[in-house]
Amino acid sequence: MQKNIFITGGCGYKGSKIVPLLLNLGHRVTVFDTMWFGNFLPKHSNLKILKGDIRNLRGISLEGFDTVIHLASIANDPSGDLDPTQTWEISVLATKQFAEKAAGAKVKNFIYASSGSVYGLSDAPKVTETEELVPISTYNKTKMCAERILQSYDDKFNLIIIRPATVCGLSPRMRLDVAVNMLTTQALENNNITVLGGEQVRPNIHIDDLANLYAFFVANENKLNGVFNAGFENLKIIDIANIVSKKTGAEIVVETSNDPRSYRLCSDKLLSVGFKPKKTVADAISEICDAWKTNQLKNEPQWHTVSWMQTNNLSPENKKNEYKLSA
Ligand SMILES: NC(=O)c1ccc[n+]([C@@H]2O[C@H](COP(=O)([O-])OP(=O)(O)OC[C@H]3O[C@@H](n4cnc5c(N)ncnc54)[C@H](O)[C@@H]3O)[C@@H](O)[C@H]2O)c1
Repeated sequence: MQKNIFITGGCGYKGSKIVPLLLNLGHRVTVFDTMWFGNFLPKHSNLKILKGDIRNLRGISLEGFDTVIHLASIANDPSGDLDPTQTWEISVLATKQFAEKAAGAKVKNFIYASSGSVYGLSDAPKVTETEELVPISTYNKTKMCAERILQSYDDKFNLIIIRPATVCGLSPRMRLDVAVNMLTTQALENNNITVLGGEQVRPNIHIDDLANLYAFFVANENKLNGVFNAGFENLKIIDIANIVSKKTGAEIVVETSNDPRSYRLCSDKLLSVGFKPKKTVADAISEICDAWKTNQLKNEPQWHTVSWMQTNNLSPENKKNEYKLSA
């Protein structure tokens, strides 16, 4: 059945894979994004792209949408620390007013991109959805608070919260600041890989599986709700480096780390409702290597979220002091 879907942050790394997939499945999609890193979405008769900031939803109507997918946020730990006030405004306060708008428009389904990093440091062999949240960074804390806000609306719409692992693999809006992608391009560029620490365990998910996961929830949203972990390979960073090294021949250099985050996601709940991942970290590494060798992937400055945000003074809205939170 065709659905009318509104996606915030749809021009980002994840959105650039999710949006084309939903279009291919026959849905109508409206993307709302500041386009901080550009817009690489294909033209499509069922796609409408709006440039805007979720902190200012004046003039945006969610009437007639079946589903909203909320991806827009400051999207990792170091970029969340660049301007913590802005991080809280975008990721939490704007999420509140977006939820209010969705509820007011009687949107039936709300799918939220949280993060597996909300669990913080955990030695638990299996971190399930019931594990206590101990967020460490501003980014993790804003993700947890946004979840709590949305849960207070779960009598207004069917709420699905996805807590994905770190995503890996190719996207038209590429990110070279996520572990697998970063290590692979480092190896290809320099023929060596610097690993900080290496013993930290991180869960991973291939971006194609991640996109399929959103499509899966859109297809099953009247049957499913609640929180779902989404990560299928819990690997030490050094293990990822070893896969990259085997594929590229790059030498591994280990340095000390000041990033203690280590956690293992258990996604049995997601598997039990019928979702099946198809790809692996090794697939992502191979695909990045192939794209690099055929010049389809280059190390562009906007693929590095933090330095791109710093050099471009993002957000410009803040800089000009024009912006006020307003629905
Ligand atoms: N990539 C991962 O490994 C990962 C893992 C877990 C969770 N997530 C979450 O998934 C979501 C998408 O992540 P991504 O990797 O695609 O990041 P991304 O930075 O590539 O995409 C975020 C998009 O949101 C847009 N955006 C930012 N602030 C906005 C605002 N105020 N109004 C409108 N648009 C805004 C940006 O322009 C960008 O296109 C984020 O919420 C992130 O926290 C990502």
